[in-house]
Amino acid sequence: MSASIRETDGCGAEITGVSVPRASAAEIDLIRQAVFDRGVAFLHGQDLTPEEQIAFAEKIGPIVVNRYFPPSEKYPQIAKVEKTEEQTTNIGGGWHTDHSYDQAPAMGSVLLAVETPPSGGDTQFANMYAAYEALSDGLKETLGSLRALHASEHIYGVDGVYGKTDQAHLAGKTDTPSAVHPVVITHPGSGKKALYVNPAFTVRFDGWSVEESRPLLGFLYQHAIKPQFTTRFSWKPGSIAIWDNRATWHLAMNDYQGHRRLMHRITIAGGPLAA
Ligand code: SIN
Repeated sequence: MSASIRETDGCGAEITGVSVPRASAAEIDLIRQAVFDRGVAFLHGQDLTPEEQIAFAEKIGPIVVNRYFPPSEKYPQIAKVEKTEEQTTNIGGGWHTDHSYDQAPAMGSVLLAVETPPSGGDTQFANMYAAYEALSDGLKETLGSLRALHASEHIYGVDGVYGKTDQAHLAGKTDTPSAVHPVVITHPGSGKKALYVNPAFTVRFDGWSVEESRPLLGFLYQHAIKPQFTTRFSWKPGSIAIWDNRATWHLAMNDYQGHRRLMHRITIAGGPLAA
């Protein structure tokens, strides 16, 4: 079995010929580089134990525990991303970049499908390198001088949006950081420029009001999800996606009412972002 990579349309790459628990150092490097270059790597048929998922994630980078998601019973490093048969709201159902409200945002995640609905429950990814590249030189220059405020309180805080849903355990938190980052970042692993604002956590441009920021942010949000920048991943138990928050957005589709979907997510630490 030898590793091969196929770029998926718009964003990401599918990797075949690798058994994650037995991956060699060269195969880990190949996966990491695919994540850096294409924003997300997809693998199917990986029947991982929790210990094997943790060991694999540690080879990609140091693990950081998400402060809001419920941990799995025995493994605090693994967060449960779950929607039961009875719940109607899923987790991550709008376009977002994880942890952009942190001063040193997480690099990415290793998400393993444990239980999937009979159909639906795909995840979409959008390519922030390609979205940035397709902008005009004039807008690139303007965005290059801007920074933006990212916050978590309106999502996870006392009046956070999850509090009005049947995923209310995710809201009501008092540890709700915010951070200012460049609107265009240089990815530390690929050297490429990427757009770094997202619809869930970006509140406004630094030094601008929310109202002033809305039209330009709205334009960027519509632009970045054009079909040519996105891909859609269909899960089966044992599928894995490893994504890079510095190069992508993602959205978990909520089109499987009445069925359970359970994913195990491990978050990988990142660092401060630079223009
Ligand atoms: C997430 O936003 O981390 C969850 C993605 C998914 O469940 O597909």
